[in-house]
Amino acid sequence: MNDADSPPASSPDPLGRLEPAARAYLDLLRRCLTREAFLDQEWWDVRLDDWPGGRDAVQPVLAEHGWRLVRRGDPAARDEGRDWPPTAETMVGSKRLDCALRCCIDAVLDDVPGDFIETGVWRGGVTILMRGVLAALGDEERNVWVADSFEGLPVPDPERYPADAGLDWSDVGVLKVGADQVRANFERYGLLDDRVRFLEGWFCDTLPDAPVEQLAVLRLDGDLYQSTMDALVALEPKVSRGGFVVVDDYGGWASCRAAVDDYRAERGITDPIEAVDWTGVVWRKT
Ligand SMILES: C[S@@+](CC[C@H](N)C(=O)[O-])C[C@H]1O[C@@H](n2cnc3c(N)ncnc32)[C@H](O)[C@@H]1O
Repeated sequence: MNDADSPPASSPDPLGRLEPAARAYLDLLRRCLTREAFLDQEWWDVRLDDWPGGRDAVQPVLAEHGWRLVRRGDPAARDEGRDWPPTAETMVGSKRLDCALRCCIDAVLDDVPGDFIETGVWRGGVTILMRGVLAALGDEERNVWVADSFEGLPVPDPERYPADAGLDWSDVGVLKVGADQVRANFERYGLLDDRVRFLEGWFCDTLPDAPVEQLAVLRLDGDLYQSTMDALVALEPKVSRGGFVVVDDYGGWASCRAAVDDYRAERGITDPIEAVDWTGVVWRKT
């Protein structure tokens, strides 16, 4: 690894080290995955409870005509990854996606050994981008691991993990995306093959014995203390020297931040944490 060739993971141009064709492909891929490229065609359902006069005032009219009440997306919210987009394959915003891109590109170009993984993939967008990096750079060795329950967040266990108290999001339907849907999303981009490896189930069951040998990029996006800690304990020791640990929810979820801080303190990890945006962080393992 040559540090002089390797700018920080949140450097403004994550594609700066690439040849033009790879750069154009990955730029298009990232803008498709977020829908930034055609945000004008992305329509959000309006919460009917927000309608003046309430849901009852508008629902009968919609039902009578078979209408939906929709609004345009907010480009700033999409850019910052503060929304739940209707069709985009990732809810992650542009800076965090660029950080993932930069880490994967640097890992390949700097010969950092190991696979890429995201724990908490939702519709799979970040892992699709990871596989796209391998395709663009002609890497024929690494795997991309896709770890999720594929049924949303777990019911929290505040007795064991007090930081997760009050964070029961297990019923939130939009977070439940099945593995078949994620495979279909990979296929949409022509990126599903046997180097895309699915780890289906709760992290506490799938990650400790997962056949992952070595990692160059570990991306955590499980929101809760338990989900973050389970992933760190099982996978952070497998991150190679020069590899990256990327955390999506550090600023946005106190539960996640507590898990990261606890884990780093327990293991004596002092690699500096770099802020990516309002919530994401990254550190590079020395
Ligand atoms: C915020 S979403 C991830 C967003 C995604 N990275 C993206 O690019 O849009 C969180 C995901 O973590 C998963 N998840 C959270 N805790 C989990 C756990 N303990 N075991 C398995 N999956 C979990 C959920 O099913 C959900 O898909």
